[in-house]
Amino acid sequence: MTRLPIAILGSGKGSNCRAILERIRSGDLAAEARLVVSDVLDAPILDIAREFGVANAYLPPGRFRTRLEPAIEEQLVQMLRNANIELVVLAGFMRVLHEPMLKAFPRRIINIHPSLLPKFPGLEAWKQALVSGETVTGCTAHYVDERIDHGQILAKREVRILPNDTAESLHARIQVVEHELYPAVIAEFCERYGDATEQVEGWPDR
Ligand code: GRF
Repeated sequence: MTRLPIAILGSGKGSNCRAILERIRSGDLAAEARLVVSDVLDAPILDIAREFGVANAYLPPGRFRTRLEPAIEEQLVQMLRNANIELVVLAGFMRVLHEPMLKAFPRRIINIHPSLLPKFPGLEAWKQALVSGETVTGCTAHYVDERIDHGQILAKREVRILPNDTAESLHARIQVVEHELYPAVIAEFCERYGDATEQVEGWPDR
């Protein structure tokens, strides 16, 4: 079976990246992690890539705070194309992607978000759920589009909010569920597209 070539993009601690790389290593996930990219030079996610022997790169993001400079986003597209990446996995990547990436990888960029979308997009979604008095929150895997935490939903999992939860305890429990859900969602892509030599219906060419 052919392994689906994926890239993982992140800005932070990389616990989802670790969960994915562990599943690949144990043989539970038929993907090949070809590249880990971060916009943060000292992000732990790059150390995790090195620990697992995965090629990794720091991408200096340029002068904007929440997006990549267009020329740099083009550079990212090129890096991913050079590595023949089929699926781009965002794992805590804190930059909104724009046309260069979205056009180059239509329906091929996915993200995981720590709430039951469409509720609570944006930062610290678990805190938003907590202060809103919700009794249930969770995490959502979705396609990436031009809006923040918005594209078509692939899968969701619920997490109960306990009466004595703090932001930290709730976030930690959501992350445990993320680490199950995200590899499972990627596994579905591998099953559907891993062996495809031609274009698959519903999956645009890149
Ligand atoms: C996760 O909670 C994910 O839902 C959000 O960013 C966080 C990344 O965490 N998009 P990590 O870097 O994978 O630990």
